[in-house]
Amino acid sequence: MIEKIKALQAEIGAATAANNEELEALRLKYLSKKGAVNALMADFRNVPAENKREVGQAINELKAFATDHLAEIRNRLDEAQAGGERPDLSRDAAPVVTGTRHPLSLVREQIIDIFRRLGFTIAEGPEIEDDWHVFESLNFAADHPARDMQDTFFINRRPDVLLRTHTSSVQTRTMTSQKPPIRIICPGRVYRNEAISARAHCFFHQVEALYVDRHVTFADLRQTLLYFAREMFGPETQIRLRPSYFPFTEPSAEMDISCGLCGGKGCSFCKGTGWVEILGCGMVDPAVLEACGIDSKEYSGFALGMGIERITNLKYLVNDLRLFSENDMRFLAEFAAAR
Ligand code: DAH
Repeated sequence: MIEKIKALQAEIGAATAANNEELEALRLKYLSKKGAVNALMADFRNVPAENKREVGQAINELKAFATDHLAEIRNRLDEAQAGGERPDLSRDAAPVVTGTRHPLSLVREQIIDIFRRLGFTIAEGPEIEDDWHVFESLNFAADHPARDMQDTFFINRRPDVLLRTHTSSVQTRTMTSQKPPIRIICPGRVYRNEAISARAHCFFHQVEALYVDRHVTFADLRQTLLYFAREMFGPETQIRLRPSYFPFTEPSAEMDISCGLCGGKGCSFCKGTGWVEILGCGMVDPAVLEACGIDSKEYSGFALGMGIERITNLKYLVNDLRLFSENDMRFLAEFAAAR
């Protein structure tokens, strides 16, 4: 019996198949119910009891051997069918390209984070606005040039539906719906009808901050600005406030920071002055508070607004606004390591 099993194993070991049909024939011949391996079981009944163990084991081994051998043939046939190519298991995996955060998103998050530490919360408003929220409530005179077609994208005239030209509209949206104390930061996209160039675009991004409470003073504004500038641009940063004019603040100022490139000595970046302008600010005009139903005798406030592109330009030395909206992977990938 053992001899018979060995002979069968040798036979199976030598068997080959050139195609699927031949392989199937081998399977039927050896491994199917009526195949040669199962046929051994009939003889097994006649094996003397003392040999049953040894013979049973040999039959099991034969069965495993035949199964493996046919599987090997199957693999070889599959490979041949796939053009004889074996997968190269040592090859590097295809690189996974992960996205990077857009520089404007990075800087927006940095700005929000700094103001959050001062207790400001995010407020948002619509990009499609009306004249009252964007201009009238903010004290823009009826004939103010900013309302002109030159600057503002109008969707409809009378009633006015327009794309907001600044995020200051979120100030009045908040003041008309909440009671002081108000401490909000409003990031968002704004639109202006400008020819697209390295220095101007028809849409860009701003962050507005507004603080209204009892006894808010210019000193609070200045300290907030100093804190922001140093958190954003480093602890050595100096700030300078220059008198300016905005319809919705009185007094108004523009803030410069010491030039981060030359440390204030004067270079081509700051045009030799040592200072670069970064934002507008001021004390909320009492007329704006009143327009929003806030008693200007009881409450005062400060506001400030900055362009995110401008801050990004200063922080990462990007000198062409168009780069921010062109989705050039070479540009965006440069910010992979920034946070
Ligand atoms: N809204 C102004 C602009 O678009 C920026 C600004 C200036 C916002 C002074 C303010 C502010 O809140 O106080 O140019």
